[in-house]
Amino acid sequence: MFWVGPVSRFAFPSISKQIKGLSKTTLSRREFVHSAAVFSAMVLPGVGRIHARPFSTIDPNDYVGRICYNENPLGPSPLALAALRDEAALTHRYPDWLNSNVENAVADNFDLNQDNVCVGAGATEMIQKVADAFLGPGDEVITATPSYTQIANEAIANGATVVYVPVDENYIIDLDGILSAITNNTTLISLVNPNNPLARIINKDDMASFLAEVPDGVVVCVDEAYHEYVQTTNYESCVPYIDQGIAIVIIRTLSKAYGLAGARVGYTLASTELTDEISDTQLYATVSRATQAAAIAGLDDLDHISDTVSLNINAKTILYTGFTDLGLQYIPSETNYIMVDTGTDAGAVLNALADSGYQVRTGWDMPQHLRVSTGTVDEMNGFLTALAAALDLQTTVNNIQPAIFGLHTVYPNPFNSSCTIKFSTLSDEKVSLVIYDTLGRKIKTIVSGTIGIGSHTLTWDGKNVFGKPVASGIYICNLIQGELAASKRIQLLK
Ligand SMILES: Cc1ncc(COP(=O)(O)O)c(C=O)c1O
Repeated sequence: MFWVGPVSRFAFPSISKQIKGLSKTTLSRREFVHSAAVFSAMVLPGVGRIHARPFSTIDPNDYVGRICYNENPLGPSPLALAALRDEAALTHRYPDWLNSNVENAVADNFDLNQDNVCVGAGATEMIQKVADAFLGPGDEVITATPSYTQIANEAIANGATVVYVPVDENYIIDLDGILSAITNNTTLISLVNPNNPLARIINKDDMASFLAEVPDGVVVCVDEAYHEYVQTTNYESCVPYIDQGIAIVIIRTLSKAYGLAGARVGYTLASTELTDEISDTQLYATVSRATQAAAIAGLDDLDHISDTVSLNINAKTILYTGFTDLGLQYIPSETNYIMVDTGTDAGAVLNALADSGYQVRTGWDMPQHLRVSTGTVDEMNGFLTALAAALDLQTTVNNIQPAIFGLHTVYPNPFNSSCTIKFSTLSDEKVSLVIYDTLGRKIKTIVSGTIGIGSHTLTWDGKNVFGKPVASGIYICNLIQGELAASKRIQLLK
């Protein structure tokens, strides 16, 4: 392993300070659009902002077995891909400078206003903007360890101090420890929920008690990059706290479940006041027009999210089964990656896996653990075979084919008189398959009860619970079994 990439912004502390300083005297991103006169002021130094990234010695263009970056093995949403292709022809034209259309699309999804949203080039840009808004010399940020480290890097680059609070013995972020670490200099608390690399969540009740204790003047930033993957009902997004007057910033990305890591788009959600501060130092037009189009289309593609989450559940089932067969301990995951204890020097295992074509990650002061991202069913089985060989284990892992949970197809779609819904269940637990309209109103329960493990086929006749035909439009079919959920969009055309 070595560090490679463009010069880090650490090499240019004075430039990052200049950018911060300039923002006070020049126009903010939001003001920019109202004044053509500021064109010369817009040409601010935007250099020194890229962090070095780790690369393995594997050919970076070999994507099979690349289970190290928590990417989406299904690829981008087909709707996003089509939008990217369509928009590519307009690449000679500047994009929507302020990402307004994407911000509106995001805001709609959360019932917020555009002023609550700031879109940028990935969560990476947004983390930097949060640091620039709330961390300067003399300020302190509190963060868990192990966790995603970018906020700490940005804090240091801005001259702030980082206070690390270790996770507890169950690998969960220690909220009491974080509260005790607050001082008069604390301006920001950064939480990653679910956490990376540990893949554990903060219990929703614990989060509520914690937020009630955070003193005024301290902003809480919650990075929810892996939100879409979480299955447990003990978790809740922190977005609803924005309307409760809590000084909270939520970070999301389209790099993970939306499969747009290469397009680069992420966003923050916060009160209007905090959003203004976050966007204050943002350069205009950091998101390309093709990416903006892909984001808008991708945000709407619930089917892709549902397929992604179903594959992730199945991939994790294969890994859990395989690790258990190999006698390895792992940390149960609420995300699309799992930490597994190899019982030996994980660095050596990483190298042996790389020789077999599987890229994983190590680090975070956990010398025996590998972080393994989920991949396709074939990748998971191939990885387990390579892992058994790398560990010199006599046990072999047979091709594991999980019982699949998911909503597979709805056909025809759009439909006119009735549609067939094919889905699979993982257990004997009660299942519910319900049709909703886009406002979340229940239209009809197709099934609610025990129907057994395996594949099922049911139909919806386009009628509501009273047997009355419903209007043309979009409907959402929602499948729930225990903590597992999947949904698909159905269009009724008359
Ligand atoms: C917790 C967390 N936050 C942010 C990011 C950065 O995401 P993006 O690709 O949107 O910049 C990652 C990427 O792995 C991540 O794991």
